[in-house]
Amino acid sequence: MNNSLKILNTFNLKINGYKISIIKNLQKLCQLWKKYKKKHYPCLVLGEGSNVLFLNNFYGLVIINRIKGIYIRESKNYWNLHINSGESWHKLVKFTLKNKIYGLENLALIPGRVGSALVQNIGAYGSSIKDFCQYVDFIDPISKKIKRFNNRDCQFKYRDSIFKHKNYKKYIVISVGLFLSKKWIPNLRYSSLKYLKNDNITPQKIFNYICNIRRKKIPNHKIYGNAGSFFKNPSISLEKGSKLLQMYNNMPYTLQDNCIKLFAGWLINQCNFKKYLYKGVTVHSKQSLIILNKFNNSLGIDILNFAIKIYNTVGNKFDVWLEPEVIIIDSYGEINPLIFFKKNNNN
Ligand code: EPU
Repeated sequence: MNNSLKILNTFNLKINGYKISIIKNLQKLCQLWKKYKKKHYPCLVLGEGSNVLFLNNFYGLVIINRIKGIYIRESKNYWNLHINSGESWHKLVKFTLKNKIYGLENLALIPGRVGSALVQNIGAYGSSIKDFCQYVDFIDPISKKIKRFNNRDCQFKYRDSIFKHKNYKKYIVISVGLFLSKKWIPNLRYSSLKYLKNDNITPQKIFNYICNIRRKKIPNHKIYGNAGSFFKNPSISLEKGSKLLQMYNNMPYTLQDNCIKLFAGWLINQCNFKKYLYKGVTVHSKQSLIILNKFNNSLGIDILNFAIKIYNTVGNKFDVWLEPEVIIIDSYGEINPLIFFKKNNNN
């Protein structure tokens, strides 16, 4: 088998894995995992590689999760979906609409597979997967024990769930249970959706509208390698926020949980990164939060250095320290982002 991970990471980095295996069933997944772990190789599960930055070749086993299956049950008020984690997220959204099951339309066109969507609690346009998640099934691939967590156990936060935390990294999400109300209420809270309000709105219209905005704002990774938003939108204390707002009265923000949430794209934009090209790396002209491997020939380390430059410039200008959303992976596995992005306290 070809060991290139180039089409398996949306930054289009030319890197290799020691062993890459496309897995369609759980049995095979556990078997391979055990075999490579026994020999002390690092092991990694990838969906579509749409939220990862590889710094080097990966010296271990890369499992491409293609365990598929969508099962529908219905109760009086709800649709209950049981989805295996190797299904494509966007195909799932389309499948639900086609079957007149509504609610996921705000999450259209997000790249990746259902398992990784759950782990990082994907969100866009006022919705996130946590709003629909009923349970998650996950496996310890060594003992083959399967457990189920309900929504609360998953400890969902903004782009975060328990499965990103240290003690849960050894588990693999194998399926996700979603529940969708039969009584559809459009979610038009997000500012750019507000003027759909007067329209005779349908889930399909929201879906089309969101697909259009995303196509305009987020470059096709097949042309310009990218992983969507590189950083998370930062939350800062009310005190710090009000000081910043006195200095920058045009700064967009929202109030959330007694904090001020800023837009990382706006902060980066103020630092003129659109004009800056470093070893083929720049930010997208329509969305500064998206870092581009513009000519698809940069290295992972070039992208990381560029991101560090953004982090320092924004931090020094605003005293707001960004946290990467993208997961950084070295030859032996995931790296703690605090090694490169040291300050994570914005209070
Ligand atoms: N903005 C700028 N300049 C920029 C980018 C943004 O001024 O270059 C400001 C504008 O005020 C704009 C606001 O930021 O109105 C929000 O921008 P946008 O709607 O593009 O959303 P975002 O906050 O930058 C987040 C998610 C996206 C998601 C969109 C839509 C994060 C880190 N990113 O971006 O998710 O699609 O909202 O809901 O939360 C992803 O995670 O990879 C991703 C693309």
